[in-house]
Amino acid sequence: MATPIFDEIKALREALHHHNRKYYVENAPEISDFEFDQMMQQLIDLEAAHPEYADENSPTMRVGSDKTSEFQNVKHRYPMLSLSNTYSIESLNEFIDRIDKEEGATEFVCELKFDGTAISLTYENGRLVRAVTRGDGESGDDVTANVRTIGSIPLTLTGDYPAEFEIRGEIFMPYASFDRLNAEREAAGEQLFANPRNAAAGTLKQQQSSIVAKRGLDCTLYQIASRELPFTSHWEALEAARSWGFKVSKHARICRSAEDIRQYIEYWDKARKELPFPTDGVVIKVNDFAKRRRLGFTSKSPRWAVAYKFKAEQALTRLVSVDFQVGRTGAITPVANLEPVLLAGTVVKRATLHNAEQIELLDIRIGDMVYVEKGGEIIPKITEVELSERKTDSAPFEYITHCPECGALLVRYEGEAKHYCPNQGGCRPQILGRIVHFIRRKALDIDGLGTETVELLHESGLLNNIADIYDLKAVDIAALPRLGERSADNIIRSINASKSVPFARLLFGLGIRFVGETTAKYLAAHFKSLDAVMAASKEQLLEAEEVGDKIADAIIEYFADEDNRTIVNRLRIAGLQFEEEAKELHSNCLEGKNIVISGKFLDHTRDELKELIELHGGKNQSGVSANTDFIVAGENMGPAKLQKAEKLGVKILSESDFISLIGGESQNNSTATIVVEKEEKQENNIVQGSLF
Ligand code: IVH
Repeated sequence: MATPIFDEIKALREALHHHNRKYYVENAPEISDFEFDQMMQQLIDLEAAHPEYADENSPTMRVGSDKTSEFQNVKHRYPMLSLSNTYSIESLNEFIDRIDKEEGATEFVCELKFDGTAISLTYENGRLVRAVTRGDGESGDDVTANVRTIGSIPLTLTGDYPAEFEIRGEIFMPYASFDRLNAEREAAGEQLFANPRNAAAGTLKQQQSSIVAKRGLDCTLYQIASRELPFTSHWEALEAARSWGFKVSKHARICRSAEDIRQYIEYWDKARKELPFPTDGVVIKVNDFAKRRRLGFTSKSPRWAVAYKFKAEQALTRLVSVDFQVGRTGAITPVANLEPVLLAGTVVKRATLHNAEQIELLDIRIGDMVYVEKGGEIIPKITEVELSERKTDSAPFEYITHCPECGALLVRYEGEAKHYCPNQGGCRPQILGRIVHFIRRKALDIDGLGTETVELLHESGLLNNIADIYDLKAVDIAALPRLGERSADNIIRSINASKSVPFARLLFGLGIRFVGETTAKYLAAHFKSLDAVMAASKEQLLEAEEVGDKIADAIIEYFADEDNRTIVNRLRIAGLQFEEEAKELHSNCLEGKNIVISGKFLDHTRDELKELIELHGGKNQSGVSANTDFIVAGENMGPAKLQKAEKLGVKILSESDFISLIGGESQNNSTATIVVEKEEKQENNIVQGSLF
């Protein structure tokens, strides 16, 4: 491949990888942003002109792609365990004493516990090949495309790295990125992330890597996993990882006594408030690998490490009064008004109280001195009452019985802690909340209509529900205060554009309780049309991915309501998308075939398999019958189905058989599941026993 062009591309890639590392990993840039951008542009142009030299680890891949991708579930080669937690120095000392007793005087490495989401990266011959989330510890989501966009994660390595290894760490969102993201979301009327941890995890699961690229994630690495490593201690491994180009925390220290460890914790409990990223504790690990091997593991966590969790910061202040907010679903949230108090650098005036049960449980009374805590969330919460300061004349809190907005009698649903206002059609915050939700970017994306305009239109009697949006006329809008003809035209234009928003987003926009963006996508993929969702029985709803009892009941309840059905009908007449777009067939190799899917699968969800059947011209059946051609069976196939299949002599295919049948390449070899599992288990034992 050694052509002058390729040499030039290669040189540019190497230079950009180098400068990327200087900037994101070492914090010591050698060239200006302008020079970097120029070099990048040069490479982008060359790669565009020479697609034959494409490389998924090229620095140009860091900008991500707009293509949406589904995540494959991948089994971890070495399971991702978690750590046992301690919350006090006493129990930490017990941990240290136990180790000293078993292993003699022991060296520990203390590290910060980064508050993000765990990731496992696989490198082969110095190139990033896979990034997988922790998932349930056994298997996680392949998020490689997203991870490639994170600047501090090297796409290619330098130095003397092993040919193949996994390295694990934490992907987190620095406070600066978090604040910027939430400010943007607030401006767009989108729900805010409660804390940087949720924001990091949510970002990593984005289906478009170009969005991830813009969110400013960061990553620190703290553990190498490989069959063979030339190190005898964790400290050595960390140093080596740093030399290969990984970002390894510079705050780690070797501690040789319980007192050293206590001092490290004491120092960071204060100093962490100055760090630009979130931490929630300190991790204490045995340094020596031979000792680690002897100490071994419990079923969930290593016996050679423990996490000390920092206590959340607290402040004591007086509860002045309680307000009640009514959400778009009618849910009532009590909010405490407090005497302003300084907590973790900000003045706190309000705190959430969650629901009536919590108020009762803590016996919170107006006038009480209460402890407020910020547990990594933006909104502080009340955790305890200082009973010694309670006034003698205080009375138990009486929860409201009627809606503070419309006066309706509140109700409680079985199994739910919150009270609800049932007056959906006549309660202002609910009416406005539903409309504002419907026009959100992730729903119908009617960007001309902001919250304020919705309120104005509601007040002038033009907008009482989501269907009214499609009866709005430009002249009516233009007549409103602060709105002229131009904005009226814009609004009408975006209303018209919303008629072609895909069905899944319409379903999300309806605002059915518990039907979030993801559930709406699953429902749309499963049922294909709103009519099918409306006609589905509870059992049928439960068959869709991620739909449980609570969601199924909420859907049935929504469509049982006469008013909701009228609104839905009006939306249909207005011309909104009530059906999933028909997809172009990939082949007709399954034409005329009736296929049943049963059990759990390694590489695909059931709905993905269903979609594949349809994309290849086949028909998915829910039950086995005489005209079933074959069953695609995963793990734990239903016994009734198996019996029936055997009786009728229906052929059973594994997931990989099926993928081969439609001409794809299977990721797993599910016909030989048992043999493969045995081999993998053994490998895990070797690795866990000898390396960490
Ligand atoms: S070591 C065998 N080191 O905490 C487990 N974990 O509760 C090895 N975490 O899943 C983990 N900072 O996501 C380790 N310096 C650090 C960490 C850290 C954050 C997270 C990680 C892990 C969780 C365990």
